[in-house]
Amino acid sequence: MKPETQNSLTGTGGFDLKRLVRPNILALTPYRSARDDFKSGLLLDANENSFGSALGDQELNRYPDPRQEQLRSAVASFRNVKPEQVFLGVGSDEPIDLLIRIFCRPGTDRILITPPTYGMYKVSANINDVGVDEVPLNPDFSIDPDAFRSTSAVSRKILFLCSPNNPTANNLDRRHMTEIIASFDGIVVVDEAYIDFSTAQSMLTELDRFPNLVVLQTMSKSFGMAAIRLGMAFASPALIDIMNRVKAPYNVNNLTAAAAVDAINNREVMMRHIRDILSERTRLAESLAQINGIQKIFPSDANFLLVRMNNALDVYRRLAGMGIIVRYRGDQLHCDNCLRITVGTPDENNTLISALREVLN
Ligand SMILES: Cc1ncc(COP(=O)(O)O)c(C=O)c1O
Repeated sequence: MKPETQNSLTGTGGFDLKRLVRPNILALTPYRSARDDFKSGLLLDANENSFGSALGDQELNRYPDPRQEQLRSAVASFRNVKPEQVFLGVGSDEPIDLLIRIFCRPGTDRILITPPTYGMYKVSANINDVGVDEVPLNPDFSIDPDAFRSTSAVSRKILFLCSPNNPTANNLDRRHMTEIIASFDGIVVVDEAYIDFSTAQSMLTELDRFPNLVVLQTMSKSFGMAAIRLGMAFASPALIDIMNRVKAPYNVNNLTAAAAVDAINNREVMMRHIRDILSERTRLAESLAQINGIQKIFPSDANFLLVRMNNALDVYRRLAGMGIIVRYRGDQLHCDNCLRITVGTPDENNTLISALREVLN
């Protein structure tokens, strides 16, 4: 991290993406796939099966568009950014891993995370032999921008922020995030997997201001399409270009792309689900608050609640014994005796509420 007085990353010049990227990635000649050059004609260039797919669907015998043009423009217009600012991957987990591989030299560079937070940042770093440093959130799960000033920048290439945060469900303060992005001497990733459930505005509107900002979103939560595995990274065209050069050429398959375009074009269903989840979230929180033994329901801007209760581990095990599966988070920083509970359908929530009444009695 830079001293407060130096601030070369505010988008007014100074930010040097190339300085951060691993040299072997900068020097990379990407794989040129057959479909990079021609998409139509008599296609005998890619060793595809000319007789068609085993399912009889002609479309499936061809490799997908490596540039993902149709889906990128659908996502771009939906999120009000330019297609050149969109990277599409296999869930958000792919861009998380890709960013670590692009910027962090194994055994040398490090990432920063803010526990308690989503576990994949650390797992991806561990897989890539990249060290992890921690700047914990405050006990109320807010972020402390001053805590970053004292850390040194040299090899800390990426800071992962998560807002709304998993497992704590709160938004990080926007002003604090922008202060950190402006002063951090590396890439700041803001993971917005749950942004559509939040009252906060997406950080996408800051992309043009901060060339070191990457925003992650996913079709797994508000769109309810975890099975298709589609995640998005939004960043400057220069950074997206590097990500696209490094990704596997056909990472997003045709079935996923078609489903995603459909879901975006028919987004009223997604909007209705969000409304229903938000009203169930309120009802669930109010009902839980009346159960003896529940100590605290943390405010939520996501589709889950973090709930502190007596003997959470025991409660978790007893619920599991009744076939009700929630997530024990009591082993995470500041989350002692906490369970993370996804907002279910009204029936599912009723079952959970009765079970908790019984278990905590
Ligand atoms: C904060 C956060 N980011 C990313 C993901 C994963 O998203 P995807 O399904 O797109 O890989 C999750 C999933 O739980 C999450 O909580």
